[in-house]
Amino acid sequence: MAMKINLSLPISLFFLLAFFSTLAFAKKETEVAADPELITCKHQCLQQLQYTEAEKQMCLQSCDMYHGLKHEHEKQVEEKIRKKIKDEGAPQEHDEEEESGEKEEEKAEEGGEEEEEYPYIFEEDWDFDTKVETDDGRIRVLKKFTEKSKLLKGIENIRLAILEARAHTFVAPRHFDSDVVLFNIKGRAVLGWVKETETEKFVLESGDMLSIPAGTPVYIVNRDENEKLYLAMLHIPVSTPGKFEEFFGPGGRDPESVLSAFGWNVLQAALQSPKRELEKLFDQKDGGSIFQISREQVQELAPKKTYWWPFSGHSKAEFNLFTMFPNFSNRYGTLTEAGPSDSRSLLQKHNIMLSFTNITKESMSTILYNSHATKIAVVISGKGGLQIVCPHITSRSNEKHEKSSPSYHRISAELKPGMLFVVPPGHPFVTFSSRKENLQILSFEINAKDNKKFTFAGKDNIVSSMDDLAKELGFNHPSEIVNRIFDRKESLFFPFKLPHEVRDRRGDA
Ligand SMILES: *[C@@H]1O[C@H](CO)[C@@H](O)[C@H](O)[C@H]1NC(C)=O
Ligand SMILES: *[C@@H]1O[C@H](CO)[C@@H](O)[C@H](O)[C@H]1NC(C)=O
Repeated sequence: MAMKINLSLPISLFFLLAFFSTLAFAKKETEVAADPELITCKHQCLQQLQYTEAEKQMCLQSCDMYHGLKHEHEKQVEEKIRKKIKDEGAPQEHDEEEESGEKEEEKAEEGGEEEEEYPYIFEEDWDFDTKVETDDGRIRVLKKFTEKSKLLKGIENIRLAILEARAHTFVAPRHFDSDVVLFNIKGRAVLGWVKETETEKFVLESGDMLSIPAGTPVYIVNRDENEKLYLAMLHIPVSTPGKFEEFFGPGGRDPESVLSAFGWNVLQAALQSPKRELEKLFDQKDGGSIFQISREQVQELAPKKTYWWPFSGHSKAEFNLFTMFPNFSNRYGTLTEAGPSDSRSLLQKHNIMLSFTNITKESMSTILYNSHATKIAVVISGKGGLQIVCPHITSRSNEKHEKSSPSYHRISAELKPGMLFVVPPGHPFVTFSSRKENLQILSFEINAKDNKKFTFAGKDNIVSSMDDLAKELGFNHPSEIVNRIFDRKESLFFPFKLPHEVRDRRGDA
């Protein structure tokens, strides 16, 4: 009996697996055949002279697949707009459009406790607050995880910010009341780390990680003449859970210096300068906390080159995740991890691992789940898709019949740069790349110590590793058949292609 319950997840997954491919492909094709983008995609497949017939079929299928995802994604965005309008007191005329059959059903369902339908998916346009915005850059902070969904309570103390700065800009000195794990997604930066007696300079390339303890004053320079700089900053607040602030030392009116809030008497006494001079200093009109500087200023701020070696005179990041030796690699993807034990810094203190997944185009990760870690993932390049299976949200179709075990809901999203997603431990998920580009994902894995990855497909998956009787009882199917389905030589990353049988059948149709 107990075994039955424990195995219900693999069973459901098995059916999900069998179904999602056929459903997704078959349904969308008829529904939306008129989409010009889909037509172009398919046209391109047929134009590839070097493709064999089978490859052309595969190519056509992947067009359908991405198109299906796009469609699902658009529906999700529509739904959000609808919700937003409703929340803000909708003007009447919008109501009409909503009343298509399917949406009505959804509405009826919303009656009870309202849970966000996509609790783990964070959109660039919806889920960030812009904390700083100037002509030359901006800092966006992801909304608090618990504001998105109660299901994310486990990581509520953590905040994520993305800094973007144009070429040759200066990000004014500041300190945070949070420990910061800084990751250079893209670009060339210099970070000035102000210490007791001097400023230590770090040259940061794409893929570099640096951890900055709370309270450390830092400034940042985008030293590239053309390229924008993108930094991800994971904040772990040290006093107020889930909340962090930035404090500017130097500054006038914008950014406002923390000093200017003190009384004049205190300032005069502390700095031994007349009030007139202090007023002038703190009343300076300036252009915000991110602004353009000249090439000479960039050179002046960059670490000095010495005559015998061009890169000396600066400190290095703790590691570079893009150039480290990968922990796993095959033709279809690579995975690079730097865990808490590889770093004596904040990763160790906060039990965080950084990982970088580079999925080759037209490939997929296996279906897997993390045992302990919650994954906060940032799409840094390429396009593709994501599916997470979640027991907390019940899907409509499953609600109708009663069962003695939970039902699972599939959360799908189209992935593109700037998007974020969270995968809680225990939740199986899969990511896959588009036909044209590699999909590159940076992840902060929270609670990483003792984490294990369990897979449902590929070498050493948990179904294959189960003893035969358990398999038979679980699936209520002979173990030879189960083994045939689940055994596979490759691990972790696979080509995203359907098996021959399905392909042939589709070819006939
Ligand atoms: C991944 O590789 C790094 C460096 O080679 C190693 O220190 C780390 O332990 C590996 N991580 C895992 C989970 O195997
Ligand atoms: C990702 O993999 C591709 C090869 O598939 C490689 O060319 C590219 O440099 C990799 N990206 C990074 C950042 O390692």
